[in-house]
Amino acid sequence: MFNSSTKAKYKNIFMKKIIVTIVICLLAFNMYAQTSKEKKMDDFITDLMSKMTLEEKIGQLNLPSIGFDVTGPVLSKDVEGKIKRGSVGAVFNTYTPDAVRKLQDIAVKETRLKIPLIFGYDVIHGHKTIFPIPLGLAASWDTALIRMTARAAADEATADGLNWVFSPMVDIARDPRWGRVSEGAGEDPFLGSQIAKKMIEGYQGNNLSADSTVMACVKHFALYGAAEAGRDYNTVDMSLVKMYNDYLPPYKAAIDAGAGSVMSSFNEINGVPASANKWLLTDLLRKQWSFTGLIATDYTAINEMINHGVGDSAHVADLALNAGVDMDMVGELFLLELPTLVKQNKVSVKAIDSACRFVLEAKYKLGLFDDPYKYVSNDRSKEIMSDDKLALSKQAAEESIVLLKNASNILPLKPDTKIAFIGPLVTDKRNLIGNWSGAGDWKKAISIWDALQQKPQHKNYSYAKGCNLIDDSLLRKKLNEHDAQIEIDSTSTPQQLLDNAVVVAKQSDVIVAVLGESFGMSGEAASRSNIGLPDNQEKLLRALQATGKPVILILMNGRPLTLEWENENINGILETWFAGTQAGPAITDILFGNFNPCGKTTMTFPVNVGQIPIYYNAKNTGRPFDANNKYTSKYLDVSNEPLFPFGYGLSYTSFTYSDITLDQNKLYPGKKITASVSITNNGNYDGYEVAELYTRDLQASITRPVKELKGFQRIFLKKGESKEIHFSITENDLKFFNGDLRWTSEPGPFKLFIGGNSIDCKEADFQLLH
Ligand code: BGC
Repeated sequence: MFNSSTKAKYKNIFMKKIIVTIVICLLAFNMYAQTSKEKKMDDFITDLMSKMTLEEKIGQLNLPSIGFDVTGPVLSKDVEGKIKRGSVGAVFNTYTPDAVRKLQDIAVKETRLKIPLIFGYDVIHGHKTIFPIPLGLAASWDTALIRMTARAAADEATADGLNWVFSPMVDIARDPRWGRVSEGAGEDPFLGSQIAKKMIEGYQGNNLSADSTVMACVKHFALYGAAEAGRDYNTVDMSLVKMYNDYLPPYKAAIDAGAGSVMSSFNEINGVPASANKWLLTDLLRKQWSFTGLIATDYTAINEMINHGVGDSAHVADLALNAGVDMDMVGELFLLELPTLVKQNKVSVKAIDSACRFVLEAKYKLGLFDDPYKYVSNDRSKEIMSDDKLALSKQAAEESIVLLKNASNILPLKPDTKIAFIGPLVTDKRNLIGNWSGAGDWKKAISIWDALQQKPQHKNYSYAKGCNLIDDSLLRKKLNEHDAQIEIDSTSTPQQLLDNAVVVAKQSDVIVAVLGESFGMSGEAASRSNIGLPDNQEKLLRALQATGKPVILILMNGRPLTLEWENENINGILETWFAGTQAGPAITDILFGNFNPCGKTTMTFPVNVGQIPIYYNAKNTGRPFDANNKYTSKYLDVSNEPLFPFGYGLSYTSFTYSDITLDQNKLYPGKKITASVSITNNGNYDGYEVAELYTRDLQASITRPVKELKGFQRIFLKKGESKEIHFSITENDLKFFNGDLRWTSEPGPFKLFIGGNSIDCKEADFQLLH
């Protein structure tokens, strides 16, 4: 007979078997449901396409812009007429239920086959409720929060008639001269991948046809962030090993997360423009990565291939289609050229069918064939800028702000401090929502000044403008052509503004200078060769510093700036990016200590432009810097170190890290090492800390970076509290693409680092054994 422990053992085995059987059945059912769903979609589309003429199929590949925004150099013409003639598959820049309904009516009531349109838009960091610019959001290192911002944006966008967003922008960027660094997550492939995944989840949920989800569009595929000299749209030339290890991971992460669409980029890659790049779009994206969604180009990217010098308009249309492009954004070369190219047997009907099928599948997945008006509801307006979204925007702003310097704990300010708020951005609203803020209404943003009025306990302050945002008339003209609304003070000369500010500053205990870029100085077509504060603002800051009063600099900008003088001479520096609709309340709460800053940089801040590109995950070289050896890798006039490294940010409290303990120092495939550190909050404030894990592969068949981020944890510690945190490292974490582009690990010695930024880390050694 069985004793009770044997009985329990058998019961256990029996239960396990039942659970395994249930899981297998569920998986099988899921696969069956999935396949039958796909079959239903295939049948539907095959049937629909059997009724379509070649022209109607080509019409589906056309993506013009119509409506409220102009986001490129060429305007689409007669879009309504083209919709009527079945020559449009999707549009962008139209939103609001009424405007969308009007166009959808034409598509489903006035065309032969009544195929609905998709409505796309640049919803980049929020739709109406604007969150911090993506570079700021990334600085929160709070991927759950970032997911919620994408979710909120999808809610608002769908309540406003949209079903397709041109986001996330996941281009890795190592050059802060490039204005579009503001739109991405920074320089790191690991962090960039985590964020890309969360954004897709936030936008798309797990059901594209739900009323409040949108189709995401991963952009700009690919390597757009590696433009030479940081000049927008410029050439990209890169080794495959660098692409695979450093630049492609975030796109891949977004595809693996189920992104519904991809946007091909403007740049060339190793001599072949991305939108004509069959290797990129078909071999890599479709075949290697198994992408089954829609591929659209960026704005007139096909036409621009004539300028790239790869063919005339017919040839570039042919190249793009055959490379794997499904939709032509604004350029209309598919519309113009494909019919003739088919007649000439240069383009096959099969290639057009394939592209058309991808477009129709996207519509099917969005549920538009069931209900073309499903995103067109006038009842959902209360979801737009609702209290919960504004609260999320404030949280995101707080978490994104990075405290770069806090000498003698000058921040937070005491309630009775007499403060002089100086600078053109103190009262400004126009710039708070940053670039690519789409439908966001800057008038609804709350300035620092307005937020101060809502704080009755802080009344001891004064204000002076100090300078115009930009005095340089040429730059101002360029920016104002794109709605920067930079005004020159008509009542005072620049010198009078400055003199007055100095008088006001001298009467205070502390000066808070609010300075930075105009929003249009970052974003698309906004590269800069000098990335400091505008000259007139710099002059003001120096005059304020010369008063001898302590100065706190609050920065608003869309890229890492060069701040060498500021770091040496200013007491406190708070990087607030363009923090969105709730910028003012978030900044003032940080100033007065109601929120303890916890953001950390996700892009290196250089000392000067000459150091660019500068990024933490660089290679060691054969002659790494050695102060005692002339013949090592360095500059004569500036150190190799950045001003602020990747992963850096201070807090009102201070965190100390214990040494690392490893549960073992040999790692075998299939096993893991656990690295533990104890972190103590030994300051006077509760706060969040981001603990970062890096590794270094010391010997490999190709050279490896001096550090690579492999994990991070955002933890909350009360003052005086300590917590032990643990990171697991597996063989998988140590894999990389080798010289044959094989994803592999190589046995040998490794270093592991844990710390509060990419420079100040504790370290430990271990071996990978195969
Ligand atoms: C930008 C894209 C954007 C598109 C549509 C282009 O100029 O590069 O990021 O999605 O315009 O507005």
